[in-house]
Amino acid sequence: MISIDAEECRFITKSKDFYFDVVQSLTETPKRLSSKYFYDKNGDSLFEAIMMSPDYYLTKCEMEIFTCQTKQIIDRLAIQNTDFELIELGPGNCAKSIHLLRTLSAANVSFNFVPIDISENVINELQSFLLAQIPDLRLNGLIGDYFDTLASHCLLTQKRKVVLCLGGNIGNMTVAESNQFCKILRGYLQPGDQCIIGFDLVKNPAVIKLAYDDSEGLTRAFNLNLLERINRELDGDFNIEQFEHYCNYDPSTGAAKSYLVCLSDMVVNLPGVSIHFEKDECIWTEVSQKYSKIQIRQMASDNGFIHSGEFLDTKSWFMDALWTAV
Ligand code: AVJ
Repeated sequence: MISIDAEECRFITKSKDFYFDVVQSLTETPKRLSSKYFYDKNGDSLFEAIMMSPDYYLTKCEMEIFTCQTKQIIDRLAIQNTDFELIELGPGNCAKSIHLLRTLSAANVSFNFVPIDISENVINELQSFLLAQIPDLRLNGLIGDYFDTLASHCLLTQKRKVVLCLGGNIGNMTVAESNQFCKILRGYLQPGDQCIIGFDLVKNPAVIKLAYDDSEGLTRAFNLNLLERINRELDGDFNIEQFEHYCNYDPSTGAAKSYLVCLSDMVVNLPGVSIHFEKDECIWTEVSQKYSKIQIRQMASDNGFIHSGEFLDTKSWFMDALWTAV
């Protein structure tokens, strides 16, 4: 039962969805928190540090693909002499896609770049950065939820589309959720439209384990920041010292999962609610799903696509899959 006074109400109205989502997922058994809340200002900079850490290979692998195979990727796109739309879901700073943008633009290919992100900040910064880099880029950044924005945008244009979903972001969904995501995405496309999705591949389990439990403790800080964020933004009173980062990779399911382990019995207070934790109780905070090449090809055909190309880094640790809508 949640009971809230006026003072508490101030905190809650400021971040209503975050608050209710946190309370709901911490009062379920087993407890969980969504990884989408990792990315506040602190979390963003911790994630940037993770991407540069020698133990975290994903970003480097995908970057290698986009820098060394730019031409091969473009050659496989079904865009011959037609004005098309290159849409990117969750573009970040476009560090990878900018290689496609530069090459397409230099080749005078006619296209419109449509980055879609929930963060107004990301889109605004991207807008000025990209135009400074590629002055003649036709840029149409959209702010909003991926699918709502894609849906209304797709109603406006009949042009050929290529949708980028990079960074292994699909990894933060379970296998069932990813299939759902691909099905919905397919629903917005016409036959012949394409998408490029970045998948982290299964590999030596020790390599994966280290990426999510790096020697510098960056992932640990990233995970714990979630509790600090709850303290900061929702006026929580988590005693951060009483929580520990734990990561597990299960080679038989391909799921790398992160948890926060509670080290003693305690009560944590949020406005209007007290949550009991038992010693050794875990909060599941993230899944980073790994896929085999066979699984990825299967996923394409299960969701209305043809697996029409695959781009791997030299270690074969990461795949950008090119799918064409049937
Ligand atoms: C941004 C989802 C690709 O799961 O590898 C990095 C996030 N979490 N270290 C991933 C993350 C812990 C990352 N993705």
